[in-house]
Amino acid sequence: MGIHKDGGRLFVRIFNSLTFTNIDANPKAAANIVDDPALFVKSALSDVEPERFKFIDGFPVLEQALGWVIFDCECRRGENISVVELSPVRGEINRRAIEPVNRGFNAVIEAAVHATRYVGLKEQEYLRHIEYSNTIVQKCGGAREKEAMRLLYELIGYPE
Ligand SMILES: Cc1cc2nc3c(=O)[nH]c(=O)nc-3n(C[C@H](O)[C@H](O)[C@H](O)COP(=O)(O)O)c2cc1C
Repeated sequence: MGIHKDGGRLFVRIFNSLTFTNIDANPKAAANIVDDPALFVKSALSDVEPERFKFIDGFPVLEQALGWVIFDCECRRGENISVVELSPVRGEINRRAIEPVNRGFNAVIEAAVHATRYVGLKEQEYLRHIEYSNTIVQKCGGAREKEAMRLLYELIGYPE
């Protein structure tokens, strides 16, 4: 999710989804900061395996995250999109990795965004964006990025 900062306050804008239903029912959320492209793809398009989480004060965070923040949430429900204000409760930094800019990694993230839209709306335009991102992944990405793209195509049910 994209976290927005406005006047020192933090927000996410969430489309109606399971994630929103969960936050609405139990107004807590964790932001896991990760650098594994396949994990981005998996969490955007399916569910991350339960064994990859550990529990902090009863709330799940990803074990392999670079860091995480747990938030209390306040939801303002909209028709299609809801705004959730995030108030940090607790956070931890596990690892400070030097992550050089990599077009391949960035292209996986772009493809993952388009893939979540493709899955919801099934519009060909999103597939074209994914295909374009894939050309960059194949040119500039490493093994991790290529594996993430393979997973992405598998999860949207489309042959690479
Ligand atoms: C980089 C990235 C940023 C995203 N940002 C948002 C966002 O700000 N709001 C949102 O509703 N969905 C966002 N999405 C899409 C959600 O990840 C996706 O719809 C959600 O994971 C669906 O899972 P769910 O059905 O389990 O809720 C983003 C996806 C990616 C890959």
